[in-house]
Amino acid sequence: MSQKLAGVKGMNDLLPPQIETWQRVERTARALFGCYGYSEIRTPIVEDTALFVRSVGEVTDIVKKEMYTFNDKGGRSITMRPEGTAPAARAYIEHGVANTEPITRWFYMGPMFRYERMKTGRYRQFYQLGAEAYGSADPSMDVEVIALTAEFLKQIGVPDVVLHLNSLGDGSTRPQYVEALKAHFAPLTHLMSEDARQTFERNPMRLLDSKEEALQEPIAKAPAILDFIDEASRKHFDDVQRLLGRLGIAYELDRRLVRGLDYYTRTTFEFIYQPKSGDNALGTAGTVCGGGRYDGLVHELGGPEKPAVGFAMGLDRLVMLLEAGKAPQATGPTLFIGTFDGPLRDDAVATVMRLRNAGHRVDFDPRGGKLRRQIERADKVGARYFATWGEQEVQEGALELKALGLPDDHPNKTTKVELARLGEWLALNARPGAAS
Ligand code: HAM
Repeated sequence: MSQKLAGVKGMNDLLPPQIETWQRVERTARALFGCYGYSEIRTPIVEDTALFVRSVGEVTDIVKKEMYTFNDKGGRSITMRPEGTAPAARAYIEHGVANTEPITRWFYMGPMFRYERMKTGRYRQFYQLGAEAYGSADPSMDVEVIALTAEFLKQIGVPDVVLHLNSLGDGSTRPQYVEALKAHFAPLTHLMSEDARQTFERNPMRLLDSKEEALQEPIAKAPAILDFIDEASRKHFDDVQRLLGRLGIAYELDRRLVRGLDYYTRTTFEFIYQPKSGDNALGTAGTVCGGGRYDGLVHELGGPEKPAVGFAMGLDRLVMLLEAGKAPQATGPTLFIGTFDGPLRDDAVATVMRLRNAGHRVDFDPRGGKLRRQIERADKVGARYFATWGEQEVQEGALELKALGLPDDHPNKTTKVELARLGEWLALNARPGAAS
């Protein structure tokens, strides 16, 4: 026997029926993001490695340890995208979009790749739904992307998410903050792993994202960047908070929220799953969305001075929360047609295809065989009605439809429908929310 192959660790197959939740989430996103004026973009899965090193930052966990990087056959260093902000900025610059419109609003959905330690809600191929808005430093844009996320989470029905908010300032006062962090952590280097010590040397702010047990208390006691930010950023942050209040969007100030990527300036935010009661299915992988402002990135990547703000949500995590505790939903065909072997079968199969082409969910059993087995199959796939296509039906020009979910003595157990009116009837009797 040949050996069975398994998928790559940390990379999941998305199969029915869960795929329907993914599709619902994606449909909701397209509709709502459209209302907010965001257009979809699709960039390649791979980019020049330098793009991520320069944008996400050399001393971040993503670049240091997590990238899928390889040399292509031409000897170029290529990386499978670990996130979508840098590729979007690269495309924005490369296509000179800033010359054609003052404000650009884009969104994207697709797989990202990070070689991370796997656990529930943390994968090596995962899916992000992200949005990026270029061209304005106004606080209303920060609030727009936050409001978009909040409304989206509400529309898809994700419960118990809390918005965490912070500001990192515009970078001008960052040297002072970094000095304060160095002074705080310098006496504690004996608690650090070699890796953390290097981070301390090269970019002490990144220590604040460290998961090392021994560092958690010192991190909790570290100085907060919010106490160091410049006046203009302070005003910007006040405006963001005032406008959030105006929109009735609740948030918690989170003075430790520095995010794991280097490009952020000013507002940073995360939506974190925090159930009020019961188990936290996602544990430390509870951040369902992360984002913020990055006013310097477009210019640093060789583009014009264009402030920007955006976010990305982890779709795997959202779908997991939506699936948890969900009652299985009936999604089978509206009608299942039982067939007899012989010349009539072609008519039955052709009718199935004709009804499908007209937009109805209709199925049959390609194995044919005993009618009892075909009814069992119809039940199994969740069909709503069953009808046989036999001599008598063809002569009468009508099918007798049996409602599979109803008891035999129910007055509506069977209904006769003329063949000529079958499509019309199916449209009226499809499951709510499904195509007929
Ligand atoms: P990020 O925080 O690295 O930000 O990722 C955003 C979201 O992607 C996380 O909150 C999480 O839900 C999901 N995510 C990240 N890693 C994994 C993983 N290994 N498995 C499952 N889900 C994961 C960014 O990527 C920024 N580009 C966001 C952004 C856009 N900032 C401005 N614009």
